[in-house]
Amino acid sequence: MVVEKHFSVEEAPLPAPLELADFDRSRALQARLHAAIPGGSHTYAKGDDQFPEFMAPVLERGRGCRVWDADGNEYLEYGMGLRSVTLGHCYEPVLTAVRRALRLGTNLGRPTTLELATAEEFLEFTQAGEMVKFAKNGSDVTTAAIKLARAYTGRDLVALCADHPFFSTDDWFMGTTPLQAGIPAAVRALTRTFRYNDLPGVAQLLDEHPGQIAAIMLEVERDQTPAPGFLEGLRRLCDEHGTLLIFDEIITGFRWHPGGAQALYGVRPDLSTFGKAIANGFALAALTGRREIMRLGGLDHHDRDRVFLLSTTNGAELHALAAARAVMRAYNTVPVVAHLHQQGERLREGLQAAAHDQGVGEQFRVLGPGCCLYYGTRDADGLPSQGFRTLFLQETLRRGLLLPSFVISYAHTAAVVDATIARVHEALGVYRRALDEGLDKYLMGRPVQPVYRARN
Ligand SMILES: Cc1ncc(COP(=O)(O)O)c(C=O)c1O
Repeated sequence: MVVEKHFSVEEAPLPAPLELADFDRSRALQARLHAAIPGGSHTYAKGDDQFPEFMAPVLERGRGCRVWDADGNEYLEYGMGLRSVTLGHCYEPVLTAVRRALRLGTNLGRPTTLELATAEEFLEFTQAGEMVKFAKNGSDVTTAAIKLARAYTGRDLVALCADHPFFSTDDWFMGTTPLQAGIPAAVRALTRTFRYNDLPGVAQLLDEHPGQIAAIMLEVERDQTPAPGFLEGLRRLCDEHGTLLIFDEIITGFRWHPGGAQALYGVRPDLSTFGKAIANGFALAALTGRREIMRLGGLDHHDRDRVFLLSTTNGAELHALAAARAVMRAYNTVPVVAHLHQQGERLREGLQAAAHDQGVGEQFRVLGPGCCLYYGTRDADGLPSQGFRTLFLQETLRRGLLLPSFVISYAHTAAVVDATIARVHEALGVYRRALDEGLDKYLMGRPVQPVYRARN
């Protein structure tokens, strides 16, 4: 396999530690962002309440695994567009394909040849379904999967995995969180939850609601690996109860494996949803699955009612489809997934060693599979701590790292990973001192907040 690198990795040391004054412009822009946009951002996970009070950089551009903020500060980053950018920012072959597609027009009055080519290639590449429908956001396709499952089964209830934090901005999911304002009780009553790896719990749920649960939806894997027999057991239970099994592969697709985590674990759902990485950050999501179910959204059947399945103005926007084809070509040319797993494991080992070395191995925990790491922070009593998370963000921002998570991309080389580990090691030294001497002595400003909270 030919290994091409599209980014020369600048190993130049990052600037000296940043101080509060280095965030002046970002702080001024923050106020304007909040005046113009509710929440000051278009994704709550990117909100100011998720970052240290005085160090919430407003970004201007990215390239590879680096981003630059409005004050001109440069960071190695591990958020990667909320996990959507697996190839690195501005991956040139994707940009080239997009530039070419822009000359075709963005949205034409009938389906296009590009639409057909992308659909056929996606089905071949993922092996996750027999038909596919594209949309713009992950929420569009998870909501469509729920609707289709309800139409196919004629049932109203759905069951979601309570250990998986996000499936959709829509009411059927948000109604299960503390953020319930604006969601009718009648809608909330239709969603039930179960715990990951708790097969008896799922069996009990299905028994308690015989013939009523349209679908079970979960991510195949997140921080916990599937217990032996769990996914197979779900498949069996769904078959026994006439319930559809839906895998949300919006994070796992093109990151765990080109075909999603289902391809790694060998259990096939009835429907799957993809998004994020499929177009390296260009807006595209996909609902795919068995023809027998997907066809209900079609024009050919006469035996069942029609389902108004994903009919969107921008679902087949030409340059996003071109981006997806270029992404699939890249995956067929360079070892993206192997890189994510290998460098992710290198990162995990280095971070764990750094935490151990600084004596915070119990408090600073690296979680998830290497290709999609995140972290948990605990206080001296071993309790989850938003204050220590804030301190960690503060000390790593000061060292030129943007770390909402430790999500890796093809642009994160071994040298970048090693430089990251060295800086995290320093930051964890401050963590240790704060454990010993008190958080207040080191933390500037208020702690970050959970996204899911009913009140500000
Ligand atoms: C697992 C999962 N499903 C669905 C979604 C919703 O995707 P989007 O934000 O594109 O609507 C997300 C977004 O973070 C997600 O992580």
